Amino acid sequence: MTPQLIDPFARAITYLRVSVTDRCDFRCVYCMAENMTFLPKKDLLTLEELDRMCSTFVGLGVEKLRITGGEPLVRKGIMTFFQSMTRHLDSGALKELTLTTNGSQLARFADDLYAAGVRRVNVSLDTLDDEKFARVTRWGRLPQVMKGIDAAQRAGLRIKINAVALKGFNEDELFTLTEWCASRDMDLTWIEVMPMGDLGNEDRVGQYWSLKDVRAQLAQNYTLTDLAERTGGPARYVQLNETGQKVGFITPLSHNFCESCNRVRMTCTGELYMCLGQEDMADLRPALRNYPKDDKPLVEAIHNAIGLKPKGHDFDYSRQRADGQVSRHMSHTGG
Ligand code: 5AD
Ligand code: SF4
Repeated sequence: MTPQLIDPFARAITYLRVSVTDRCDFRCVYCMAENMTFLPKKDLLTLEELDRMCSTFVGLGVEKLRITGGEPLVRKGIMTFFQSMTRHLDSGALKELTLTTNGSQLARFADDLYAAGVRRVNVSLDTLDDEKFARVTRWGRLPQVMKGIDAAQRAGLRIKINAVALKGFNEDELFTLTEWCASRDMDLTWIEVMPMGDLGNEDRVGQYWSLKDVRAQLAQNYTLTDLAERTGGPARYVQLNETGQKVGFITPLSHNFCESCNRVRMTCTGELYMCLGQEDMADLRPALRNYPKDDKPLVEAIHNAIGLKPKGHDFDYSRQRADGQVSRHMSHTGG
């Protein structure tokens, strides 16, 4: 299918990330406050509305759908939604259905996810130490996530581990995490910490650890080959010659990746954010809810929104903190 969503800078929008809930069973310090106030349930798109929304995007040329949260697998009935997306995989319109998860519910859902057509899953995991894991996630417990990862691999899901790079927290695990991932045939991506959540407040778990540093430290033990591969997102990849493993670096802050951006993000209430680093959004929910039988207003609202996609983003550590700070939480927009 030819992409039909072209933004003002001639970028084809073929990738939609959808947050299906703002809730989570963890409280990672860089993501949430411990006493989060969540959105009223009535504001969330229902599972049927999520289906209609995603299907409309697929009809407009979106080929890749990533389900995020909060923690997507804590949304009640979410497997129904995954199963309803299978039809777009079967028709060939959708090329990939993936999710980003904290892994806590994977033991329960891995087989169903595979049956629905999911083949790859990103699992967020910053440390292999039980005590540190409990500290950074506040409510998470590592053995449960490990069981989830085991189940997912048994089910045939390919796993990529996402680790947030936190100075003084997981710096010392660079090699243990790398080797653990290699031993289980999992790729690993390091994410630069973004100025959100409770960082710098009561939980001084860790601070900004430059991925340039991460890379330089990796290069002391491994031979790194840059990979040309681009996913249209903020990730850059290298291959470790010694293990064959891929290691990614997501640097939304210190690097400009906007020119090749192919994606938009939708919150669990139906707001479409055209750019992770900017506040501009379009609320698609009215067009969806007010016209339950007619997709035309929704299609029009989506086209209008894509027409507003900015050229680049606005995070910048070199400016005053208040400038780069994005007030919404990751759990609302989706990672
Ligand atoms: N900085 C970087 N990554 C974050 N995530 C959540 N909050 C932040 C932040 N402030 C990541 C999680 C997960 C994904 C959903 O987003 O670790 O990998
Ligand atoms: Fe939950 Fe992920 Fe946020 Fe942690 S980073 S609180 S697991 S949504």
